[in-house]
Amino acid sequence: MTLSASDQSASAPQTRDNRYTGVAIALHWAIALAIFGLIGVGWYMGDLPNDHPGKESLYQLHKSVGITVFLLTLARIVWRLLNPPPADAEGLTGWERALSHGVHIAFYVLMLAMPLSGWLYVSTAYDFDIPTVLYGIVSWPDIPFVSGLANEAGHGAVEFVHSKLAWVAIGLVVLHLAGAVKHEIDGEEGVLKRMIPGLFGKTGGPHAPSRGALSAFGGAFAVFLVVAGIPALAQGGGPKADLTSPETFAGANWLVNESAENSLAFSGLYESAPYAGEFARWSAQIAFDPENLDTSRVDVTVDLTTAETGKKLYTDSLKGAEWLDPGSNPTATVVLDNFAPAEADTGWGTAYTANAALTLKGATVTTPFQFQLEIDGDTARMEGSTTLSRAALDVGMQSDPGADWIADDVTVTVKLTATRNSD
Ligand code: HEM
Ligand code: HEM
Repeated sequence: MTLSASDQSASAPQTRDNRYTGVAIALHWAIALAIFGLIGVGWYMGDLPNDHPGKESLYQLHKSVGITVFLLTLARIVWRLLNPPPADAEGLTGWERALSHGVHIAFYVLMLAMPLSGWLYVSTAYDFDIPTVLYGIVSWPDIPFVSGLANEAGHGAVEFVHSKLAWVAIGLVVLHLAGAVKHEIDGEEGVLKRMIPGLFGKTGGPHAPSRGALSAFGGAFAVFLVVAGIPALAQGGGPKADLTSPETFAGANWLVNESAENSLAFSGLYESAPYAGEFARWSAQIAFDPENLDTSRVDVTVDLTTAETGKKLYTDSLKGAEWLDPGSNPTATVVLDNFAPAEADTGWGTAYTANAALTLKGATVTTPFQFQLEIDGDTARMEGSTTLSRAALDVGMQSDPGADWIADDVTVTVKLTATRNSD
C-alpha cells in the first residue's frame, strides 16, 4: 500500500489516493477514444475519392474532434498540475518506472503535437482553401504567420509529421498497454483499477477533494473563446460595403420595395446534394419601360460579405479568397441591358430576356437572363433566373477545378417588387 504525493500535502490526511481523480479518468478515456477514432477516420478519409458523398463532412469531423482533443489536453495538463496523480505502483524496477514515466510524458507531447500538426497542416494549405468549422457551428481560424510553410515542400513536411505521429501514437499505446498488462500479471495491486471508472470506494478511502476545475476547464474554454473569437470579430467589424451604383444614370423610374419577399439567391449541388444561399444586402437601380426596351437598363450591386447559406462551412468557404473574395472586392455588380420580349409561357406577367454583365473579382462575364414581369399600375413584380458557370467566374478553381464535389452550374434567382418612381 502506498501513500501518494497528494496525500502528504492534502488537507484531509485520512484520505488515500491510490486512484486517479474522476476528472483525470474521464479525460484519459475521452482523449484515448478520440485518438483511436481520429486515427481510424484519418486513414479512411484520405483514401476516399473526391466525389465521395460526405467526404468533406468527415474531414470537418476529424478536425473538430482533433481540436477538441487539443483543448481537453490543455485542461488535462492543468488538472494534473493541480491534482497530482497517485504514486507509482509498488514493485516497479528502476527501468520500468523510467519507461512508464517516459511513455506518459511522450503521450502528453503527442496529445499536443497531433492536433497542432493537423491544425498547421490545414493552415499551410496552398492548393486547397477549405475552412475549418467545428461541429458545423464555430468558425476556427488558421494558425497565423505560417505562410512561409504554405508551399509544396512546407505543407508536405507538415503532412508527413502529422501522418507519422499516428505511428508514434500506436507505438506508445503498445508500450503503455504492455506496462499495464504486465502489472496486472505480476503487480500486487495492478494499475488498471487506478484508471478504470466507477471503482470508487472499492480500492480505498475517499479521494482528497480535487481542485482546480475552474482553472483547468475555464482556461481551456478561454483559449477556445479567444481563438474562435478571431473570425467572429473579423466578420463583424469594418464598414459595410458601398452599394451605390458605380454609374448613376438618368431615368431610374422604379424603386425596389423594402420587402422580405425580395431575394437574390443562389443554388447548386455540393457532393450531389442541393445547397442554397442568399445575399442579404444588395441594391438595384432600375430604368425600365416596356415601351422603350432599348433605353432600359438595370444596375445591381451586391454586398458579397453578406452571402449566407444554411451551412456555416459553405458560408465561410464563400468568404475565402478563391471563392467570392469579399476581402479584396466587397461588391459584385450586374448590368442588365438589351431587353427583348421572350416567347415563354410563364403563367403570369410577360416574359423578357436581357443581357446580364456580371463583374466579380474584377472580371466580367456576360450571360442571358430570363425573367417575367407584371406591372400593375405603379407596382411591378419581377422574378428571373440564370445559370452561371463557376469555372467561367473563376470561383473555387483552386480547390475544385474539375467540379468533383461542387457542381459547376450555379443558379442565381432574383425576386423583387418595385414601385414606380414618379420624381
Ligand atoms: C491513445 C490512447 C491513450 C493515451 C494517449 C493514454 C495516455 C495516458 C497518460 C498520459 C497516462 C498518465 C497519466 C498521468 O499520470 O498523468 C495514462 C495512464 C494510464 N493509462 Fe493510458 N492512455 C491511452 C490508452 C490507454 C489504454 C488503451 C489503456 C488500457 C489498458 C490505458 C490504461 C492506463 C492506465 C491503467 C494508466 C495508469 C497508469 C499508472 O497509474 O501508472 N491507457 N495514460
Ligand atoms: C489527436 C488529434 C489527431 C489525430 C490522432 C489525427 C490523426 C490523423 C491521421 C492518422 C491521419 C491520416 C494520415 C495519413 O493519411 O497517413 C490524419 C489526417 C489528417 N488530419 Fe489529423 N489527427 C488529429 C488532429 C487533427 C487536427 C486538429 C486537424 C486540423 C485542424 C487535422 C487535420 C487532418 C487532415 C486535413 C488530414 C488529411 C491529410 C491528407 O488528406 O493527406 N487532424 N489525421
